[in-house]
Amino acid sequence: MAFNYDPNSANTEKASVDTSKKLRIGIIGTGWIADAHIASYKKMQDVEIVAGADLIPGKAEAFFKKHGVEGVKTDYASHKEMLADKSLNLDAVSVCTYNRQHAPCAIDSLKAGLHVLLEKPMCVTIEEAVEIMKAEKESGKVLSIGFQPRLDANMQMIKKIVESGELGKVYYIQTGGGRRRGIPTPFGTTFIEDKTAGLGALADIGCYSLDMVLNAIGYPKPLTVSGYKSDFFGKDPNYSGYRADKRAEYAKLFGVDDFAAAFVRLEGDIILDFRIAWAMNIDTCGDTIILGTKGGLRIPSTECWNGSVGGAMSIYHEVCGSQVRTEIPIIPEDKNMSLFDKKIRSFLDACKGLGAVPVPTSQIIYNQAILDGIAKSAEAGKEVEIVIPEI
Ligand SMILES: NC(=O)c1ccc[n+]([C@@H]2O[C@H](COP(=O)([O-])OP(=O)(O)OC[C@H]3O[C@@H](n4cnc5c(N)ncnc54)[C@H](O)[C@@H]3O)[C@@H](O)[C@H]2O)c1
Repeated sequence: MAFNYDPNSANTEKASVDTSKKLRIGIIGTGWIADAHIASYKKMQDVEIVAGADLIPGKAEAFFKKHGVEGVKTDYASHKEMLADKSLNLDAVSVCTYNRQHAPCAIDSLKAGLHVLLEKPMCVTIEEAVEIMKAEKESGKVLSIGFQPRLDANMQMIKKIVESGELGKVYYIQTGGGRRRGIPTPFGTTFIEDKTAGLGALADIGCYSLDMVLNAIGYPKPLTVSGYKSDFFGKDPNYSGYRADKRAEYAKLFGVDDFAAAFVRLEGDIILDFRIAWAMNIDTCGDTIILGTKGGLRIPSTECWNGSVGGAMSIYHEVCGSQVRTEIPIIPEDKNMSLFDKKIRSFLDACKGLGAVPVPTSQIIYNQAILDGIAKSAEAGKEVEIVIPEI
């Protein structure tokens, strides 16, 4: 029996999990986010963690030691060696590498006949996303992208409000968010170097705000985009958000964007106005708003945008000629299961054929197409058409 993910259902307790067959799991990339993956896998009774690979010698071994997981094979120079080790009998992998290694690791894992949980953003370019989807199609395996905020009850409420018809026809969306000083360098430079990250704030946190609104409105196809990117803070050797002793080094290595903005046309005559920042000289670049013909929804932004709802949402509508605001109270966190546990559980259920793929590529390809479109438009200095090659 699969877990019931509906937060409004009375039955959100953990359903009993069939442990007669344990899924054999491998972890590719044992950095920061892999900590969250392994912590959740350890709680799942139908899982055996059997292998891990990292490009940095000794890192995977130290990782499993730190997490107290024994008997895991780690003597691989890269993900390719791990995938070639047929003695592992792997069923599935988590791909927790930096962005530039998402596509090769996901494609090679699917080609090896494994189910894949791929961290967000899906990848860096639309061309990579198409290759990933081709490999997924050929393999027939489960591929889910790691957008755990979707499993938050408040996020699901946004979708429910839109689907209820309360807003009428949606025609304009403003979304995004940002931090005043929040270029992510706590564990090194893999988020800021082009060779590892490929895209900066745009992909790292921009993908979340796009998913929040696009998922709510049913992921319409993006048609055109006029995009902008900048790197004023990241490349500044005096940027106060860097460790004082690393400022010059990080500024030199910075090769991605720390701010991006775009105007996107979506199928269905919907306009998406987007901006995202790792660093900016303002406290917020605005709440998310969804405007419809019958009502408007305001979703408060968070200080450190990470894909969550920042406070009680409001619907602005008209009742018998009066302008009314209805507050939607914040739904408290599910005490039984964290969002990350739900992400892992829903992926495992999909692998076992017990549930749908939680975050399918058929949707996220449009998220990636917008990120890619913004990057290409920013480079070209003009609006571009979004073209998604045939898969
Ligand atoms: N879902 C979330 O909440 C969330 C949060 C943070 C990061 N992320 C995503 O997770 C990804 C990783 O982030 P991180 O902070 O863990 O990065 P990180 O740099 O700390 O770790 C990545 C690791 O992958 C390894 N690696 C790269 N290519 C490899 C390969 N081919 N084979 C084996 N190992 C390889 C690197 O050596 C490194 O140790 C990023 O894409 C990021 O966007 C998701």
